[in-house]
Amino acid sequence: MHPALIAGMLLGIAQAVVVPSHPGPFSVAMRVQALTDHSRTDPFNKTVNRQVLLSVFSPVSDSTKCSSEIITYMPPATAASYGPLAQSAGLPANIFSSFQLELCKLSKAQHGSCRGGRKTPRFPLVLFSPGLAESRLLYSVTAKSIAAQGYVVVTVDHPYDAEVVEFPDGSVVRSNGTAGMEQQLTEIRAADMSFILSQLRHLSSQGDTLSPKLPAKIDFDHVIAMGHSLGGAAAAQVLPRDKRILGGINMDGRLFGPVLTSGTKQPFMLLGREKHTAEDPTWNSFWEVLRGPKAIVGVTGTTHASFTDIPVLIQSLGLPAEAQSQVEQLLGATGGSRMQEIVAGVCASFFTSVFTGKYRPLQEAVQGFSEVKISNSSFKAV
Ligand SMILES: *[C@@H]1O[C@H](CO)[C@@H](O)[C@H](O)[C@H]1NC(C)=O
Ligand SMILES: *[C@@H]1O[C@H](CO)[C@@H](O)[C@H](O)[C@H]1NC(C)=O
Ligand SMILES: *[C@@H]1O[C@H](CO)[C@@H](O)[C@H](O)[C@H]1NC(C)=O
Repeated sequence: MHPALIAGMLLGIAQAVVVPSHPGPFSVAMRVQALTDHSRTDPFNKTVNRQVLLSVFSPVSDSTKCSSEIITYMPPATAASYGPLAQSAGLPANIFSSFQLELCKLSKAQHGSCRGGRKTPRFPLVLFSPGLAESRLLYSVTAKSIAAQGYVVVTVDHPYDAEVVEFPDGSVVRSNGTAGMEQQLTEIRAADMSFILSQLRHLSSQGDTLSPKLPAKIDFDHVIAMGHSLGGAAAAQVLPRDKRILGGINMDGRLFGPVLTSGTKQPFMLLGREKHTAEDPTWNSFWEVLRGPKAIVGVTGTTHASFTDIPVLIQSLGLPAEAQSQVEQLLGATGGSRMQEIVAGVCASFFTSVFTGKYRPLQEAVQGFSEVKISNSSFKAV
């Protein structure tokens, strides 16, 4: 279909669309937090210390405490940076500014009540790194879907790698292009993830700044790194460098960095398109150097972009059937809400397999999805 035709069909679409995530036992609250690493100068800007920007998605165990909060999916400069992508799919350039997320809003008093501590539940931590040049915000629905299963999920903006990073103080950091820099970026991202983990631990031990603003406490004995595309390479790279992180997931990403030859002992899952292994030789070579429990898991009816929020964003537009079938050719037949369910379900069960050392949780979760298959696994069958 000609792009203009899809755009024409969209003329009637409402100004704002609340994008649904996959539900779970928990409601989800979110905080945005900038962190500065005073021990590192920014590799891309020697005049400043390295800064990162986080969205912290946190489960709320008592949803009766939630009132609904609708937030903008992307602030203006970030939404604008996705204009060309939208147009290439026949969508209006400003479409990314019309998406919204519904979150749990807690009153100040309720935040305060979490300070007492002992009864506040603890949840495992998932550090999530986006694809090359992508904004962390392109994974907010995915992060919320995982958080609803009982995990604190932190999505990370890596400045000068992400095309645009918009800090809460209004400052905007733009990338100057990253062509051919994947190896270096993988290592910078891995360092960012270790710094974030240290900082979250520090803040939580201080009992101030970040953690009292969250309705949940982080269980720092149960930490996972994951990411999409280059973020998946970073999740692999951080493992041999940071033993505090127990395991990792690479979603449909080519591997880069020293980890590709050195490997890691921590459990690892390669989750991607059904044919990823056939198209990317790094998955086979990485498989050989993975020394812990490992699995390659394929999802039918997917493309590389299926492992971002894009399918669920598109689905939320309620396109006419004809346009939807065109979109499926670009994004695969497995739709957005189904992808949210699959990614949340398979990842959460993999986390349980890592934390318990048992294969069965992953195995059973995968059996529940006809689109998903474990093609290779070295988990002990217990
Ligand atoms: C480096 O950071 C400073 C301070 O934020 C900023 O003024 C400058 O434009 C940055 N340089 C580059 C190359 O982005
Ligand atoms: C941006 O990249 C161009 C070439 O790719 C280079 O000439 C320029 O100096 C770079 N700018 C900064 C601020 O690094
Ligand atoms: C995964 O399993 C398939 C089928 O059993 C096999 O052909 C392939 O070589 C395996 N891949 C790896 C990386 O072990």
